[in-house]
Amino acid sequence: MELNKDIDQFDIPLAKRTYLNNPNSTLLKKLLIFSPFLFLMFSVAALRFIRNVELIPLNNNLKFEVKRNHDARILGHLPYKETLKEKLVLIEPNIEVHIDMRDSLLKMRDEAKKNGIYLVFLSGYRSINLQNDIFYSLKSIRNQEAAERARVSAPPGYSEHSTGFAIDIGDATQRETDFETDFENTDAFRWLIKNAAKFHFKLSFNKDNKYIDYEPWHWRYEGSIEALKVFESANRKF
Ligand code: DAL
Ligand code: ZN
Repeated sequence: MELNKDIDQFDIPLAKRTYLNNPNSTLLKKLLIFSPFLFLMFSVAALRFIRNVELIPLNNNLKFEVKRNHDARILGHLPYKETLKEKLVLIEPNIEVHIDMRDSLLKMRDEAKKNGIYLVFLSGYRSINLQNDIFYSLKSIRNQEAAERARVSAPPGYSEHSTGFAIDIGDATQRETDFETDFENTDAFRWLIKNAAKFHFKLSFNKDNKYIDYEPWHWRYEGSIEALKVFESANRKF
């Protein structure tokens, strides 16, 4: 009797053990059923993560590049390297320009002449040293602050003239308008507005510029790959 009691004690719990109702086993079955979905969700999440990792540095570089170009401006002027001496040619006793633009510039003057318009070249290439003298001496003589002076003259290292691709143009019949806003009322300016693009010249500082005064006499050449590269940032809108 004592023995049976012991057996009963062992028998009942053993008989009750059913694997089907085991909570662990139910969870396992559910996991097996949902495993394709879980696999899919995991794959999508992993893919998104990988793409983000690849895109983040790209976006950051892009932002950095835009910011860098924007910040490179000083008082509204972009930096320009001085062109190499061997790329300069003399077109007037005192005027040198980049070899790339010489032919186009002279052709433009000839074409204008045929139309009864007399263009005169006032200033071409200017070294960074000369730009330094112009900027600091005039600023000082005129008792102007840098920002005021920069409205009409670029700081050294920031002038289109140092590239050899910029030219200041006047009207030979109205010299009193040289370097004056009034140049816009001359026949020469009206002719340039209509025809300069044919010769790959573009007005650099128009009336929309926030930092630099309107300069109807200042044109830049964009008719060669080197010139286009030099003015790439200037042509980009921020
Ligand atoms: N006058 C223009 C801004 C220059 O100095 O380059
Ligand atoms: Zn100029």
